[in-house]
Amino acid sequence: MFNLSAISQAPVITVIGSSNMDMVISAPHIPAPGETILGSDFEMLPGGKGANQAVTIARLTNQVNFITNLGSDSMGKELINVYDREKMNMSLISEDSSTSTGVALITIDRKGENCIVVSPGANGLLSSSMIDQHLDVIIGSGMIVTQMEIPVATIKHLLTISKDHNKKLLLNPAPAEHIASLDLEGLFLLTPNRGEASLITEVELNNETGYLKAATKLRDRGIQNVVITLGKEGAFVCCDDFTGIVDSFEAEVVDTTGAGDVFNGAIAVALNSGIKINEAVSFANRAASIAVGKKGAQTAIPTLGQISVYYR
Ligand code: RIB
Repeated sequence: MFNLSAISQAPVITVIGSSNMDMVISAPHIPAPGETILGSDFEMLPGGKGANQAVTIARLTNQVNFITNLGSDSMGKELINVYDREKMNMSLISEDSSTSTGVALITIDRKGENCIVVSPGANGLLSSSMIDQHLDVIIGSGMIVTQMEIPVATIKHLLTISKDHNKKLLLNPAPAEHIASLDLEGLFLLTPNRGEASLITEVELNNETGYLKAATKLRDRGIQNVVITLGKEGAFVCCDDFTGIVDSFEAEVVDTTGAGDVFNGAIAVALNSGIKINEAVSFANRAASIAVGKKGAQTAIPTLGQISVYYR
């Protein structure tokens, strides 16, 4: 088992991505098209895949650079307060008065599964030129992390920056529909979930043969490491050093919203600290298994202290 003290000595990670205000209602089931159902109380909670991953990294390492774009509205102001409390580098957060802060409508069913619709708002205006304003910060960081709730052109720019400056980029392809247009040659790590991996590769992911076929197709595009997250089954890893499933941990599931983001933030922290990939995946599985036990994306993110009890 690895030593968690490596985490405190690692360089800062930069996350570039979305911020949303999550509008959450729990319901007996996810409604079918045309169906109206009664759910429980409504809650507004901080979310967005980029922010969830950045907050995970902040809680595990006490530092993170988060480049994001908010609307100049009350939701944006609330999120700024959240990021300040998480001790993020506030100089990287921009506001745009021409649009609203990103919003996600989330329904959670009795099993803790969810369905999400996102209105990107200001996330859709996070441009390559905004990235260039913070180029020194990006290339000075130990690792770059991004997802696909921001413009594809910005992701393409990040892929170029990571190649030109020899930086490790983790791309979480969520949502995955625009990934076909990306040149992924040289990408350090791609982390699709089962559905995203299937959408990208057109392979059915029902068993280890399917996982290997999909991961191999992805690595054929020049990606160094592929990790397919499989929920309670764990994650399938495919890279030069290791191929196979890394098991998950037993968990009481209350809400799976943001569990994938916690996985991504945590695996970035572990790999950035020099931890081997199969151990990094196990650490990320542990973080995600804690996160599913509580409602909300960011409210459920564990601290390093909460994870470290499993490493004594
Ligand atoms: O991954 C969960 C996140 O997806 C939510 O917080 C929501 O904002 C959407 O971006």
